[in-house]
Order: sequence, then structure tokens, then C-alpha cells
Amino acid sequence: MSNNYTFILKNGLCFINGKLLKTDLGILNNKIIKIGDIKENSQNIYDASEKVILPGIIDTQVHFREPGSTNAEDLESGSRAAVLGGVTSLFEMPNTNPPTSNLTEFNKKLKAAKNRMHSNYAFYFGATPQNTDQLSDLKGLEGCCGIKLFAGSSTGNLLVDKESDIEKVISNSNRIVSIHSEDEDIIRLRKKFIKKGDVHSHPEWRNVECAMSSTRRVVKIAERYEKKIHVLHVTTKEEVEFLAMHKKNVTFETTPQHLTMYAPDCYNQLGTYAQMNPPLRTKEHYDKLWNAIKNDIVDVLGSDHAPHTKEEKNREYPNSPSGMPGVQTIFPIMINHVNTGKLSLSQLVKLMCENPCKIFGIKNKGFIKEGYDADLTIVDMEKEVTIKDNMIASKCGWTPFNNYKVKGFPVGTVVNGILVMSDGKILINSKGKPLNF
Ligand code: DOR
Repeated sequence: MSNNYTFILKNGLCFINGKLLKTDLGILNNKIIKIGDIKENSQNIYDASEKVILPGIIDTQVHFREPGSTNAEDLESGSRAAVLGGVTSLFEMPNTNPPTSNLTEFNKKLKAAKNRMHSNYAFYFGATPQNTDQLSDLKGLEGCCGIKLFAGSSTGNLLVDKESDIEKVISNSNRIVSIHSEDEDIIRLRKKFIKKGDVHSHPEWRNVECAMSSTRRVVKIAERYEKKIHVLHVTTKEEVEFLAMHKKNVTFETTPQHLTMYAPDCYNQLGTYAQMNPPLRTKEHYDKLWNAIKNDIVDVLGSDHAPHTKEEKNREYPNSPSGMPGVQTIFPIMINHVNTGKLSLSQLVKLMCENPCKIFGIKNKGFIKEGYDADLTIVDMEKEVTIKDNMIASKCGWTPFNNYKVKGFPVGTVVNGILVMSDGKILINSKGKPLNF
């Protein structure tokens, strides 16, 4: 028995240099040290024949609820859901209670995550009108993926809505600023379009211009100051057309929800469970988002995992909160879209592995390469699963994809060289570490 490897994956179809290559992977501790035929033995061998092995999937937008609403989610439960869905790393948002908008709260979150998270992780630092002068000091901050700016209000109380404050945040920051891009003035003005008890009015209230007006504004500011911004959960055809022409300083995300559901059907079927910000919109927007995926205009996918309890979601609209869980389903939903031919495997790997590393500067991840971290998502491309609420590990206990059938499913998740999930079971606890940038 040789001790050269702590873990060997045999005969997998590994995604390497844009292609699937049948090979073995030799891992020593948390690193991939050999790609190729491996004759030696190891105490830990995974037979990956017939399986596709991808670089670990990264979800660049989740909201766990710790501190604050840990009845809906905490760092442990959310990251458990992540690895069950094949996600090896995630970026968590600062709209907790209290918000993660100063170093004390940031360090508390980092401490709370230590030895409790199943996936690797990084946290956003929340911008406020009061902390703009601290944003230039975040360069080496351990476990920080960037700065989050809510230009429009959503769950929690983080908000930077005045143009002069948005400008201060973007111009002062030395990390990428990721933006929830809705125009708060328009949100306020259009409250009259809210129809009590009718969630179909959600996209009328927070309409296309609400998103577009904010996106135009933040892109202009980023260009003026030569700063990098990242527009989160883009939902409109108009923003896609605009952003496609402004790629120099700007990257953007869309979500599997916006690529899988559209109005009015989603509201007919799910009611307030389909309510999120920015909203699910009509098919023309969905079609344009797909067109942008096909043409490699979208940069990353994020689940915008936003758990709320059923009790909260059952409230009458608009008292029902916005958001839906997704960290466990982002990969199954998207790999199914690969199987149905809506995007290629190589596009999915760019969106969920390579681009997050390039855009945010995550070190040593995103590729299956010798010397890189051994974060891997093992996929059975033939496995058919009907997603059910009772499979969901998130404390909220539901998914907007209840009864949705997928072909292609994560059957193994390797985090830092350790198989933490196999066939839907967590094998070992809490091997996640903060990401390095
Ligand atoms: O619908 C949403 N819910 N959108 C957001 O941006 C925040 C999220 C949440 O945290 O609930």
C-alpha cells in the first residue's frame, strides 16, 4: 500500500481543458496531485466509472440566515444543502440580522462558520451609506469575496439608494462590488401597482424599468471610476441587451429560477412561493436570458438561495417575503438543462466553476489541474430524479422545483480532498474552509 495518495478517483470522465477525458485523479490531502493512469493503491478509492467529474461547483449567491433568522437557515444547514446538491463552495450574503456591514460582524460570521460548514465559503461585506470609507480596506480580508450593495430594498435593512452614496461605494471600493440592481425611487413610486392578495402584480410593481434604471446607473458609475462591478440576478431582456455592450467593467449573473420559470405560469402554480426580487418575469425575458447563455454573455449563475419558512410564504401578498431556496437545486436544474441541450457542459463549467474564480479571484479552484484544490462534483448524467420538498435539507423545507423531473444528478461531492457527500448522504461533517482570494 502506497501512501502517495489520500484519495483516488478511478476511471471518471473528467472535465479537463474543455473536454471530458477518461482518467484517474490522485489526491493528496486537499490537492489534486496526479491526473493520469494510477497504478498505486490507496485506502480511499472511488470507482468513478460511468461518472462525469467536474471541477467543484461554486454558487456565488446564497443567503443563509445566521445571525438572525436561524429558524429558516443557518450556516450548517445551508451548507449541508449545498453539498447535497453538488456545490463545493459558496458566497454568502450580508443581509442577516444584524447585517454583515462592519468588521466585528464580519469576523463573528467567519468564526461562526469555522468547523461548521460542509462546503467552502466566503462572505460578502455589506455596504451602507455610513461605511463607505471603510470599503477601501478590505483587500486582504480573509474569507471576503467582495462588497454587496443593495441599490433597491429586499429582505433585511441593507440599502444604499441615493446615487451619491452608490457612487461613494463603487469609487471607494478595492474589491468587486456586487449589486442588487433595482431602483428604490421606482420601487417607492410604483407601490400603487401592488394588488393585495395577487402576487401576479409583483413584476408590475418591481417592473422592467425599475431594474433597468438601476443597472444603467451603476454601470455608468463603474465606467466613470474604472471599477469592477458585478450585477446580480439579472432578469430583463433590456438589461441583457445593455450589459452585452458594457462588458469591460461589468460582469453579471442570472439564476436557474429565471431560466426555468416564467410569468404568469409560475405565479399560477406557486403563488407567493414564486415571489422573489427581482421578480420572475414573462417568457420574452426568459428567452432572452437563454439567448445570452447560448452566446456566452452571462458570466455566472447564482442560486440566490433565500429561504423563508412556509408560514412566512403563506402570508397574503405583499406581506409574504421575497425569495426562494436554491442552493441544493442549482446544479441538478442546470445539469438537466445541459441534458436537454439548452447549454453545453462546457458552458455550465464556465458559468459555475471557471468564471467565478476568474471574476472574483478565487485561488486554486475552478479547474481540474495538478496542484489545484481537490474540490470536485461527481455527476451521474443518466440518473433521473423527481425533486421533492422532502429531499430539501434547508431548514425551510421546500423548493420551488417540487415535482420537477431532472435527468443528471450529483452523486458525489468532494470538498478539500474529502468525499463529503455520496449518493445523497453526508459522510463526514464540516470540512469547509474559507476561500482564498
Ligand atoms: O428575493 C430575494 N430575497 N431577493 C434578494 O435579493 C434577497 C433575498 C432574501 O434574502 O430573502
